[in-house]
Amino acid sequence: MKIGNELPHALSPVCQTLLIPLVARARGGACFPALACHDAAAEQLLEQLDIDLRPYLKDRVTLQFILWRTRVIQATGRAFFKDHPDSQGVNLGCGLSQHFQWLDQGTNHWLDSDLPEVMALRDTCLAADVPRQHHAEVDLRTPGWWQRLGLPSGPHDKPVFVLCEGVLMYLTPAQVEAVLAEFAEQAPPGSRMVLDTMSRVGRGMARFHPTVGPTGAQFLWCPGSAQELTRPHPRLSLLNTRSVSECYGWLGSVAETWWMPVTGTPMYAMVTLGV
Ligand SMILES: C[S@@+](CC[C@H](N)C(=O)[O-])C[C@H]1O[C@@H](n2cnc3c(N)ncnc32)[C@H](O)[C@@H]1O
Repeated sequence: MKIGNELPHALSPVCQTLLIPLVARARGGACFPALACHDAAAEQLLEQLDIDLRPYLKDRVTLQFILWRTRVIQATGRAFFKDHPDSQGVNLGCGLSQHFQWLDQGTNHWLDSDLPEVMALRDTCLAADVPRQHHAEVDLRTPGWWQRLGLPSGPHDKPVFVLCEGVLMYLTPAQVEAVLAEFAEQAPPGSRMVLDTMSRVGRGMARFHPTVGPTGAQFLWCPGSAQELTRPHPRLSLLNTRSVSECYGWLGSVAETWWMPVTGTPMYAMVTLGV
């Protein structure tokens, strides 16, 4: 795998997008100190990858959104593993992220998974797994991924923490529906899935996004209502929604009261689904 400024072009469009959150977690804290996540793994990776960071650092809105979502994931994951210290976490479409640095409780397990080309890149630049951290290839567009990843699915198995950040908007609505239905059908009771949603205004608009646009990837799934998240399966329940508007204080809340009736969902949100 090529490393350096050719790297983005060596990856397919949707896989190139993994560089956006990687740069945000490594360097975004300089622009938004209150949201800094101090991602030592991302910082080290950037040194190895040696890519031009300027376009990513200019996209301040995205830097802020990603740092905010990292906080939400950390809080949700820590709360889950506090209640289920021996459970498993899985990161679907992990890119080059290393959430286990924050969510390792000493007894839980973690599985990082992504498309084969991304897992091949991870192999070249990320340190070997620690004993309770594993990795596997996955394509969420192919049904049966839960079983292929070897995730627990019995009614008496321990609940699973599923993370899927910055991924589902690149799948079609039918593919997302199938992913959510598979989670609902397979996951043991008490499992959680944390994912992000973009408002339907973003659908088909990736070319206007400063850092996603140049990759050629497209936003395909942008739900128009919260019901779209639970409709795929009767076991699904919407446990929590946090809007990025919280970054902007009262101004954000006011803007959202205008925005929501038009779009049906927040501009960008982190959602926790449960079974
Ligand atoms: C914006 S990146 C997010 C990466 C990571 N979740 C993060 O936040 O750093 C999108 C990721 O989704 C992955 N992805 C896209 N389609 C996928 C699919 N069908 N199956 C698995 N992963 C997929 C890409 O390979 C890429 O790593």
